[in-house]
Amino acid sequence: MPDPQAKPSRGSDREHQVQTIFSEIAPRYDLLNHVLSANIDRAWRRKAVNRLGWESHRDGVFLDACAGTFDLSLELAGREGFSGRVVASDFAQPMLVVGRPKLKGADVTPVCGDSLRLPFPDRTFHGATVGFGVRNLSDLDTGFREFHRVLRPGAKLVVLEFTVPPNPLMRGLYMFYFNRILPLVGRIVSGHPWAYTYLPESVKEFPGPKDLAAMMEQAGFRDSGWTLVTGGIAAIHWGVA
Ligand SMILES: C[S@@+](CC[C@H](N)C(=O)[O-])C[C@H]1O[C@@H](n2cnc3c(N)ncnc32)[C@H](O)[C@@H]1O
Repeated sequence: MPDPQAKPSRGSDREHQVQTIFSEIAPRYDLLNHVLSANIDRAWRRKAVNRLGWESHRDGVFLDACAGTFDLSLELAGREGFSGRVVASDFAQPMLVVGRPKLKGADVTPVCGDSLRLPFPDRTFHGATVGFGVRNLSDLDTGFREFHRVLRPGAKLVVLEFTVPPNPLMRGLYMFYFNRILPLVGRIVSGHPWAYTYLPESVKEFPGPKDLAAMMEQAGFRDSGWTLVTGGIAAIHWGVA
């Protein structure tokens, strides 16, 4: 039985540990998200959805994988002119439960499922988003192959994820914030001893945008690209199935 107090490693029980972290911090996740990012995350989500190309399939079915409390799902479902459906999957059920009141009639269908074994047939979706989720996957290659499998040919995957700013000054400030401020505020507000220490550690060990784009291509995506946002604190990636 994995120790729920142990920080997630890249080992086989990482998945279970990540699921445990998000299940435990679910009640405070939204508050911390917006406080710790000074609400910039909302603008990042808007930009990510702008890259999806949903306008070509206004009544289509879209996947939001690692959906958490549905902020990215709702960003798409609430777009003017969107008449389709968003299937929002996550393996931490408490995140889906906490987010549910926010749905308020939006056409978002929560599904409890693992992104490494998506419970959907091949070629189901007209597009897919993943917001701050891929960094948590224990096997990124398998994750990208799964996203590719469930997308229709020509459909787009858009990934929003933290990255490390290329500019040394910005990087220094970011590292100070990530290493010192964020874990402290995260610990106080969430009450979780180390969940917000895991966040900067997971960002530091995560592949940079160029390597991530190469992994997407390796999984079968074409025309991949990325753009940095807010000085490279985060990156928006895309690729076509
Ligand atoms: C940082 S949160 C992001 C939530 C949301 N997308 C957002 O933008 O706020 C990461 C989410 O990914 C989920 N997650 C991580 N690994 C997963 C996996 N293998 N399968 C499904 N969900 C996963 C976690 O449960 C968590 O809800």
